[in-house]
Amino acid sequence: MPVTRALFNDVMVPNYNPAAIIPVRGEGSRVWDQEGREYVDFAGGIAVNCLGHCHPAMVKALTEQANKLWHLSNVMTNEPALRLAKKLTDATFAERVYFANSGAEANEAALKLARRWALDKFGESKNQIIAFYKGFHGRTFFTVTVGGQAAYSDGFGPKPGAIEHVVYNDLASLEAVISDSTCAVMIEPLQGEGGVVPADREFLAGVRALCDKHNALLIFDEVQTGFGRTGSLYAYEQCGVTPDILATAKALGGGFPIGAMLTTAAIAEHLKVGTHGSTYGGNPLACAVSEAVFDVVNTPEVLAGVKHREQLFKQALAAINEKYNVFEEVRGQGLLLGAALTEAYKGKARDFLVAAAEEGLMVLVAGTEVVRFTPSLIISESDITEGMARFEKAVAKVVSAQQAS
Ligand SMILES: Cc1ncc(COP(=O)(O)O)c(C=O)c1O
Repeated sequence: MPVTRALFNDVMVPNYNPAAIIPVRGEGSRVWDQEGREYVDFAGGIAVNCLGHCHPAMVKALTEQANKLWHLSNVMTNEPALRLAKKLTDATFAERVYFANSGAEANEAALKLARRWALDKFGESKNQIIAFYKGFHGRTFFTVTVGGQAAYSDGFGPKPGAIEHVVYNDLASLEAVISDSTCAVMIEPLQGEGGVVPADREFLAGVRALCDKHNALLIFDEVQTGFGRTGSLYAYEQCGVTPDILATAKALGGGFPIGAMLTTAAIAEHLKVGTHGSTYGGNPLACAVSEAVFDVVNTPEVLAGVKHREQLFKQALAAINEKYNVFEEVRGQGLLLGAALTEAYKGKARDFLVAAAEEGLMVLVAGTEVVRFTPSLIISESDITEGMARFEKAVAKVVSAQQAS
């Protein structure tokens, strides 16, 4: 049976509109499609493939575990899960870990824990959750409603309640809404899907202070920023602010589905036996792979390498921009970077993505005004150079199409 893109439309629910090509193989930061065409990968599976494709340490961990034990459920614990949890707690503010299978599930657990913590400690009226416009926290009904784009949660019937949204990087906006009825504030330290927008340091310090004043928990959604992406294991380490709960996923598994919620022992206590759970959460295969990813990523060389590569990306994008003047600004941190388009190209981010794919380069967008780059954290300098040469051709193509229209 021929497997083609056309088959997608015949057999899949139409909630995605994938690219015309079907990739079949990857190695490092290169990917090949069914026709044998090769691509440089600056997308990294949306900030997931932090060690590129088929990293030997990950392949080894997965195959070794595949020959030992695949699944138990949480009726029993397993060695990879406990080893990974120990490494995560040793490396962060957290003392307890809950394993899930995705970012949305890690956030869902965080929100449910915050509600239960507040109920136990302060009673029913402390249930308000505050989040930020343009924030993105996943697609379960709770997390998508906490996310800051109503369009994503509209059209599915009654929404979970007691959720408010305020303006990112605007402390007065939060101050006007937060009260002793607030149980948690959920925030991305750098909004990814919302356009690659970093939070100001003073703003985050202010958010932390307001949470403390009103006995509200501060939840950092580090699903996209976490696991080395910004040049530290977690972005909070560079923010001068420590959250009470942190959600991590994406790069945590480097391509194997896993998410986790990290928190303190005192807060974790409120998710007592039976209050929450998942059949697959903490699956031995996922945790074995994640442990292998952790051992590579959480090293000074790799984390410093992210900062070095950030400079290479920024320099290359600045050089392209000098010629073509298409970016208003290149922003972001580490290898979560966004090139915000100038007025003339606003709304056309997808044109750059499509042109890049034609030149053999995978990039992402964040909304319609930002071209986003989330490559492997260990992408080679030669792959960056080659990818940027292809990106320059793509930019030239979009510019000449614009001039012709
Ligand atoms: C900040 C953030 N939170 C949560 C999610 C949802 O993660 P998942 O798609 O694994 O459920 C995403 C995905 O893009 C994200 O960027």
